[in-house]
Amino acid sequence: MTMNEKIISSGLGDAVKVICFDSIDSTSSYLRRALDEGEQGTVLAVADRQTAGRGRSGKSFYSPDACGVYMSLLIHPGIGFESASCVTAKVCVAVCRAIESATGIAADIKWVNDLYLNGRKVCGILCEAINDYKNAVTESIIIGIGINVSTVDFPEELREIAGSLGAQNITREELAVQITKALLNISFGSLTEEELAFYRERSCVLGKTINYFINGQKNTAEAVGIDSSGGLVVKKNDGEILTLTSGEISVRLC
Ligand code: BTN
Repeated sequence: MTMNEKIISSGLGDAVKVICFDSIDSTSSYLRRALDEGEQGTVLAVADRQTAGRGRSGKSFYSPDACGVYMSLLIHPGIGFESASCVTAKVCVAVCRAIESATGIAADIKWVNDLYLNGRKVCGILCEAINDYKNAVTESIIIGIGINVSTVDFPEELREIAGSLGAQNITREELAVQITKALLNISFGSLTEEELAFYRERSCVLGKTINYFINGQKNTAEAVGIDSSGGLVVKKNDGEILTLTSGEISVRLC
């Protein structure tokens, strides 16, 4: 069933322009096009299905009809690059908390910003920054969030990895509203002690052996910490300690 734009709009008030699609290539790509055409406001784009949903590292995001929340929020924080490096972790904490307060479901965080439930990925987050390099300012950010709410049938390659929230006590519209409110409440800058504590407490990676991939090359290490910008601190087999930042690195639990 199509999501109701009016319900989402009235839950959010005037500060956000809301656009609902039955079907679109990608809500994040839509907002990117809107930005390129001069959009200056805060815009929430939500879709019932995406035909070309995008994940990190060029992966696709499976977005079947009417069983997920596929949403992107365009904001214009105008923050320095130091603050921008903390956005991913802040967004992850905000989404995880919003899902929990809306549904009662406490998800785990898999660095950098996937949410897991019972060992399966139920939510992916993709933050795309639009930067003014001359002035070292992140002018706009498109925050894309994909949640499997009631997806049952996953394609073969996702069957062992992906899962669903299974939340039945909330509509997809209400979930989108609660998450958007949480995102709009983020105060940008450094990660607060509270955000860091939450991120660390919910991490399903800390203390585990992980594989991390840089430019497709596999490395193995133990995840030993989350630093103050949300970087993953790892200890390699030879004892060397290094910090992975979100960039192009992907992590797999061994
Ligand atoms: C990931 O798993 O790597 C991130 C997935 C992000 C998916 C969301 S769905 C809404 C928005 N539109 C997209 O094309 N991607 C994001």
